[in-house]
Amino acid sequence: MAHRDTRRLSRRQFALLGTQVAGAVVAVLLGIPIVGFVLSPLFRRQQPVWREVGDIGGVPDRQPTKFEVSFPLGEWTAANVNLAVYVVKINTEYLVFSNVCTHMQCPVRWQDSLGQFLCPCHGGLYDMTGNNVGGPPPKPLPQYVHRIDGTTLFIQNRFTESI
Ligand code: FES
Repeated sequence: MAHRDTRRLSRRQFALLGTQVAGAVVAVLLGIPIVGFVLSPLFRRQQPVWREVGDIGGVPDRQPTKFEVSFPLGEWTAANVNLAVYVVKINTEYLVFSNVCTHMQCPVRWQDSLGQFLCPCHGGLYDMTGNNVGGPPPKPLPQYVHRIDGTTLFIQNRFTESI
């Protein structure tokens, strides 16, 4: 009587194993580009881009004034994104803020009645100089790297310190 070797794979087990190995290889080959695509913005520093914000000669003292500016979304697309920029003039100094809350990235708005920037999502508050003074925001508003030629403001697609 022939003794069957239990260590040998049956034809069915062999076919199943082959299918699983092939599936794993395909998954890895498909997954590498997707993972790279998702993670690449984290590892790629965008080239510095300057954009003209506008004439800030008429910005009143201690009255945060909103401008809009368009920036490229990234190096992999021709699309642009419109960003709101708050310019605050205090005596002869200009502060240039992003309107993106440092809590969960909702857009903040200047509220004349409060004399503060208010985040509508969770009630975060920032004073005129961008300091977080109430609610959940953990940090001050980010400030854009900027330059002023005459009375024309330009900003770069990066902040004065990492957030
Ligand atoms: S997102 Fe602004 S307070 Fe939460």
